[in-house]
Amino acid sequence: MQTGLDTQLVLRPGIIEFGWGHPHPSALPTAAVAAAAASALTNHGADALAYGPEQGPGRLLAQIRARLGRIEGMPPPLAQLMVTGGTSQALDMLCGQLSQPGDVALVEAPTYHLALRIFRDRGLRLVAIPGNGQGLRVDAAEAVLRMLRARGERVAFLYLVPSFGNPSGATLAADRRSALVALAQREGLTVLEDDAYGELWYDAPPPPSLYHLAPGGPVVRLGSYAKVLAPGLRLGWMLAAPELVARCTGSGLLDSGGGVNHFTAMVVASLIEQGGLDAHLEALRAGLRARRDALLAALARYLPNTCTWNPVLGGYFVWVRLPQGFDAEALLPVAEQAGVAYLPGQRFFVGTGGQQYLRLSFSLLPIDQLEEGARRLGGLLKKAQERYSQR
Ligand SMILES: Cc1ncc(COP(=O)(O)O)c(C=O)c1O
Repeated sequence: MQTGLDTQLVLRPGIIEFGWGHPHPSALPTAAVAAAAASALTNHGADALAYGPEQGPGRLLAQIRARLGRIEGMPPPLAQLMVTGGTSQALDMLCGQLSQPGDVALVEAPTYHLALRIFRDRGLRLVAIPGNGQGLRVDAAEAVLRMLRARGERVAFLYLVPSFGNPSGATLAADRRSALVALAQREGLTVLEDDAYGELWYDAPPPPSLYHLAPGGPVVRLGSYAKVLAPGLRLGWMLAAPELVARCTGSGLLDSGGGVNHFTAMVVASLIEQGGLDAHLEALRAGLRARRDALLAALARYLPNTCTWNPVLGGYFVWVRLPQGFDAEALLPVAEQAGVAYLPGQRFFVGTGGQQYLRLSFSLLPIDQLEEGARRLGGLLKKAQERYSQR
């Protein structure tokens, strides 16, 4: 497995790492990307190596529109779409466009921990909105928004991962999606819909996206090729109201450098034109579904029956609830000693919360390691439970 100087991944000898939400190397489409890169250079060489248009290359925009049209019934208008350098870049760019330091960002609890870092880097104050198995609680979002505004606070946006969320795997129910969009329209609240995992469904697709419920309205939808093709591409797309797209494409950064990651965007356009995305996605879903099944079966076999987890219908993660009184952060060094690592639930919350949870990612590890990791985790949890009950 690749690790070290040329990748972000760091693997420690003897430890089964459930912490990394990265794809297994065999799930990366190296041959398809090589063929697409050759095709982009052969057929569009000079254009691929030029500065790109700020909105992204027309070939990729056309492919994104056609694909979304197929999935959601209607292609989005061109003026509502732009290519991004992936969701992380888009979130940072949107902070620049939509917020000032000191503003509040509303975030789901729990939520993607590294989005929280991007918001903090931009000087935003984070306020959590609770969620449950059905996703974000829209009534709570409304109450908090009203309370903050009554105090004179500026709320820049609400950020959430509504489909197969990181870390909980929860999907926002269809009725809550409508309620959230209605709230956003009523209150003039911008909603950032991070759709990193929406296409990674294993049994059935998620409900229609928030953006789709009110195209060109208050929702900004972020798609990424990191999870459906490869994170190293650093490529994604954004759907937003035309004014916001125009503000982003009109930025000094894009005026100076042209569209982000233009060469990669030309390569991905060729890959999609050749049918490579659909073919890859099908194989990817099958591989991830097999990993999910293996991990869930191993957890059921090895974890104490006081641990629970939600069904995993898509995405990369199992969100395990430990017995009452456990502290996932405090337990991590013990787990590492036993040769297994995870991300403690606390990291996905603003302020307090999450002690009783841990996130296991099944995207990176081969099936035998998923099973062995679950066995090690089960062993140490049983021991910890015995110690706890003797107190
Ligand atoms: C919910 C979520 N959003 C965004 C990202 C990062 O997206 P990108 O690689 O497109 O910057 C991740 C990666 O783990 C993620 O889990």
